[in-house]
Amino acid sequence: MAASVGATVVYDRMKEVKEFDESKMGVKGLSDSGITTIPSFFVHPPQTLSHLKSSSACTTGIPVIDLSDINSDVHRPKIVQQIREAAGTWGFFQVINHGLPVSVIDETIAAIKSFHDQPPEVKAKHYKREEGRGVMYNSNTDLYRAQAASWHDALQSWMGPEPPNAEDIPVVCRREVVEWDVHAKVLGETVMELLCEGLGLESGKFKELTFSDKRLFAGVCYPYCPQSDLTMGITSHTDPGFLTVLVQNQVHGLQVKHGEDWVDVKPLPGGMIINIGDFLQIVSNGEYQSVQHRVVANSSKEPRISIVVFFNLSKWKESHYYGPLSELLTPEKPAIYRNFTMQEFNENIYSKGLDSKSLIDKITI
Ligand code: OGA
Ligand code: NI
Repeated sequence: MAASVGATVVYDRMKEVKEFDESKMGVKGLSDSGITTIPSFFVHPPQTLSHLKSSSACTTGIPVIDLSDINSDVHRPKIVQQIREAAGTWGFFQVINHGLPVSVIDETIAAIKSFHDQPPEVKAKHYKREEGRGVMYNSNTDLYRAQAASWHDALQSWMGPEPPNAEDIPVVCRREVVEWDVHAKVLGETVMELLCEGLGLESGKFKELTFSDKRLFAGVCYPYCPQSDLTMGITSHTDPGFLTVLVQNQVHGLQVKHGEDWVDVKPLPGGMIINIGDFLQIVSNGEYQSVQHRVVANSSKEPRISIVVFFNLSKWKESHYYGPLSELLTPEKPAIYRNFTMQEFNENIYSKGLDSKSLIDKITI
């Protein structure tokens, strides 16, 4: 809707955003309705759009790490070294032979696709916005805070520290979501052990500090976008939490920043993607890097589906400070970040749209 003020045409962006949100149809609904142009509030600024192509300079992609031999005394140190290296440079890696059955991956992706494929009126029953709790479906968690909206919808469910009320999870994917959390937690904790060892910590340290206890499940859908060169699937950002475990279907779109390049994360059958969040970068005193990533808008008719589990610490008292682990600090390697409170952490997430490392920038000494 445009309103004329004198000679100037003022575009009432917020009104359109609100109408879209209240329609509860999501971008999947817009896409399925057959639109050929996208609403203006999805259009990203030219400086974002001019760099959409991934760089061909990097042909290797993010590191792929084989976990088959993690219980072998001979191989484990090599795997720890690979993980340490990948987490300290790329901030992203794929693991294979991780023990999570391919059948479970396929079933979960299919169930999330089925959820998003349902008619808008069925999904609308789950459409809501809540922070830090519950089960919800919506389009763009930061819809009202971001400068521009992105072309994705998501079903989200907080899985821990208390399990969700199973009845609240849509029935088409209820069993799969609950089962996925069990598998993702095992894999997340396995990787956390390797990451601990990479820092010279006791392997159980991160689990003991409850870094795997507060989990957010997201089943994300990137439907076909008729003007994929004008918007994003998800804006460039870093994940604010501790660690992220992600799996994608065979439709490409995820890119990771490596130096000055954007590198495609090519779908690898059975591969699980792990990335370091801002919180782990801080706790590790910068040994592990939280790296910018984004998803380009989907230009293929087949929806892109990703299943993402975000791990966060659960044991955090209101007045408690967190920062680089004291075990890692020496006179040669003093803390490079100051301590911060839960309030600072949450405020940083919920006061604006997705962005990169703003908490890290704020607390860097
Ligand atoms: C995220 C994210 C990427 C994807 O949700 O934080 O980076 O492939 N998702 O869905
Ligand atoms: Ni992310």
